Amino acid sequence: MAAAPPVLICASAELQDGGDARRFEIECADGSRQAAFVVRYQGRVHGYLNRCCHIPVELDLQDGKLFDLTGHYLICGMHGARYRPDTGYCTWGPCRGQSLAALDVAERDDGVWLNAMPDEFC
Ligand code: FES
Repeated sequence: MAAAPPVLICASAELQDGGDARRFEIECADGSRQAAFVVRYQGRVHGYLNRCCHIPVELDLQDGKLFDLTGHYLICGMHGARYRPDTGYCTWGPCRGQSLAALDVAERDDGVWLNAMPDEFC
């Protein structure tokens, strides 16, 4: 079976460095949907499932505001776990040492793309 083509998530200009996340959904082969997001950090785009490692809730409580005040960590709005934006690694909080589920995203042609559907997360 041929691989699914990349999916456009948003325009590059929508992601400001350290700014709000762009939320989107991944549609799984069985029709279910998974919440996900992309952020820009130190110029590069990173994407993750929007699911905390502590309890499987969305990190941002649906407003796209994920960066803490320093602009160097993504913070879970429920209990404050802090994740590195570039790796998804949790450095502080109840799930310290675990990592967000990273997505294969890329930036090209002024857009941010999901390269491959992550079947393992569905
Ligand atoms: S649900 Fe995210 S830190 Fe508890």
